[in-house]
Amino acid sequence: MSPPPTAPPEASKLPRHIAIIMDGNGRWARQRHLPRFAGHKAGVDTVRKLVRLCGEKGISVLTLFAFSSENWRRPEKEVSLLMELFITALEQQLKKLKKHNVRLRIIGDRSLFSAKLNAMIDDAEAFTTDNTGLELVIAANYGGRWDICQAARTLAAQASQGTLDPDAITPELLQSQLCLSDLPEPDLFIRTGGEKRVSNYLLWQLAYTEFYFTDTLWPDFDQKALEQALASYGARERRFGRTSEQISTMQDD
Ligand code: IPE
Ligand code: IPE
Ligand code: MG
Repeated sequence: MSPPPTAPPEASKLPRHIAIIMDGNGRWARQRHLPRFAGHKAGVDTVRKLVRLCGEKGISVLTLFAFSSENWRRPEKEVSLLMELFITALEQQLKKLKKHNVRLRIIGDRSLFSAKLNAMIDDAEAFTTDNTGLELVIAANYGGRWDICQAARTLAAQASQGTLDPDAITPELLQSQLCLSDLPEPDLFIRTGGEKRVSNYLLWQLAYTEFYFTDTLWPDFDQKALEQALASYGARERRFGRTSEQISTMQDD
């Protein structure tokens, strides 16, 4: 008789939440003598494939940096093309996301988006809200400093109304007002494109995340590249301030 099926040992080492800076679209295009926009389009294809892969692997949350609060500094033409691409991708992929049980969430400062885009985002989130599979978070006009600032503003308003004692402000309370506070913190951070910086991504949320940098340009980030990142994550010991000995004792229990 064959033994009962068990989960593969590495399953416990799978990150629950992966946060990615999708970088290198422009260089991918330049290598091919194409306009930068061709790189962004190819990048959307990578997103589509990655969402499917993460869903299949049972990853709970995938957070993707699509547009940073600093990306407004790019040429106007590129910014408007990126906005159009975002809208088109939403329109084209929404039904598929719904069908594949993906729950969509957009985080970031939406005050600078057009009314049309804001309405689309509300509709898209509502359309997939009952899905129970992968939570796909798109960070659009997001900045880590903005996130912390908006959380502080909420608490400051409560304090000035007299409903919050400033002495009651703890890291946990501030965290409760941040984007993603209801989700597990990112376990694995991936940045493609070779740069080794955080570029104002999830500054607070990345406090104990494992970092993985790869030279692979985002449009080339395929299943093999994802497996490599997951293998690197799986080989790490997360100590959260404890000693290695404490961790092995905890695992023996
Ligand atoms: C990342 O690729 C996509 C966005 C920032 C929207 P880049 O456009 O930054 O690509 P590189 O860094 O110029 O290669
Ligand atoms: C970070 O990429 C933002 C996104 C991927 C959306 P950038 O390519 O804009 O980062 P910097 O400015 O070079 O650090
Ligand atoms: Mg870049």
